[in-house]
Amino acid sequence: MSRLLSVSRAARLVGTTRGALQKRIRNGEIASFEGQVKLTDLGELYPDVAMEDTTMLERVEQIIERAFHQVRSGQSAAPDMQTLASRVTELSNELANAKFEVSNYSILIDKLKSKLRALQQDSSVEVATAATQLTEWLAYELSNQPTLEPVQEELIASDNLLRIVAAQVHVVPSGHEFLVQGSDSVLDAALSAGLAMDYGCSNGNCGKCKARLVSGELRKTRNHDYVLTEAEKLHGYFLCCSNSAVTDVVVEANEAHNENEIPLQRITAQVRKVDFPHDDVAVLSLKTPRTQRLRFMAGQSVDLTINGLPAHSLPIASCPCDDRNLQFHIPRKNGDEFSDYIFELKNASSGAVTIEGPSGHFVLHEEDLQRPLIFVAYDTGFAPIKSLIEHALNLETSELVHLYWVAPKSRGHYLGNMCRAWADAFDSFRYSAILANDSKEMEFGHETVDTLYDTLIAEHNDLSVCDVFVSGPDRPVTQFESILQQSGLNASQIFRQIA
Ligand code: FES
Repeated sequence: MSRLLSVSRAARLVGTTRGALQKRIRNGEIASFEGQVKLTDLGELYPDVAMEDTTMLERVEQIIERAFHQVRSGQSAAPDMQTLASRVTELSNELANAKFEVSNYSILIDKLKSKLRALQQDSSVEVATAATQLTEWLAYELSNQPTLEPVQEELIASDNLLRIVAAQVHVVPSGHEFLVQGSDSVLDAALSAGLAMDYGCSNGNCGKCKARLVSGELRKTRNHDYVLTEAEKLHGYFLCCSNSAVTDVVVEANEAHNENEIPLQRITAQVRKVDFPHDDVAVLSLKTPRTQRLRFMAGQSVDLTINGLPAHSLPIASCPCDDRNLQFHIPRKNGDEFSDYIFELKNASSGAVTIEGPSGHFVLHEEDLQRPLIFVAYDTGFAPIKSLIEHALNLETSELVHLYWVAPKSRGHYLGNMCRAWADAFDSFRYSAILANDSKEMEFGHETVDTLYDTLIAEHNDLSVCDVFVSGPDRPVTQFESILQQSGLNASQIFRQIA
């Protein structure tokens, strides 16, 4: 019987995304068996796959890494010796069991042959003839067993290698899957994969990341202060922030399904840096403490309090997958205390900021990822859209993600290179940069909104299958929303954020 592989692992083996492979399953190009695909079917669907093709995947990953400016925790991507030894041991045990089974079948066949030989000596002609025919059939079948195609051998070898390098986590009841690289904790790997798993301190103190191991083997990566009861330990409960996966595991864990399930938090973060991609736009990067990460959904906002100034609400421009790093885009507004302060910070690398939140409903839900997504950003309204796009791409959506970024001529697209890098890295991502005449207030006229709508209709003739996310100043966002509604788009397909 052909080996079954999870969709995540199969996608990685053939150098595609999970979303792209899921789409081919939905299209009936490859069968799936309870979320798994047969290795033989995979070889037929991707006949040209070879070990060297993984270099393409690595290249794409490097581009993604660069495009996202992700700052990793500094941990090595390679598993530690103990984890490696456990994985090699597991594979060796599997091999030993497989050899034992093969040897048992071989003994069984020898016994069958000798039984048939005995029957051929039977006094009844019918029995002897039937035994002879059966013996000939068995000999034919044994000598005509299917052999592995080179591509299947290649896939099995790659799969074994991948199982040593990374373990897979299957989450119930959601059915989400992700890979744990190196010695990453289950929580870190889940967040990097875009899952909204329950957690609090990410440091072994609060117990909010408690989950239950259903099958597989974990390894504790840190001692934790939170005490699990004996009964919990007995039933397989563990802390996701303090354990890594040694083998492929199935875990029962809580995940937030919508923004209402994310608790309000208050965190003191540090200014990591302030960049100025344009004289009139500041990109503020904050880092939360190791023991207190902000839990939020892509597209949400927080209140920032800095240097005693009144709290200032801003959309988060980074993705929840980006570890403890938070990013905000601030347009220059002379006379605005907050803007003035940030623009005077220049390249400051320290300073405390109080964060309260998250808030807002400008978020992607799981069902949105099954539909083409159109993002319309006006100027620095790009910030929450950047977060949403990073999240969607991180979840490997196979549907089209199209960004229309309208920017005033005087300012341009301050992170245009990053958008072009996304377009290079992802087949499913399209980027349209639009320059508009701007007024001093950085608002956009009717003309721009109408032109944008005409462009959108010309490029997406059936908007009814899409979800549209619009973010920017009140006037163009409201105008664009009303044009979309007049054109028959359902209100449930339009998401707006005044930024
Ligand atoms: S997140 Fe607090 S113990 Fe794991």
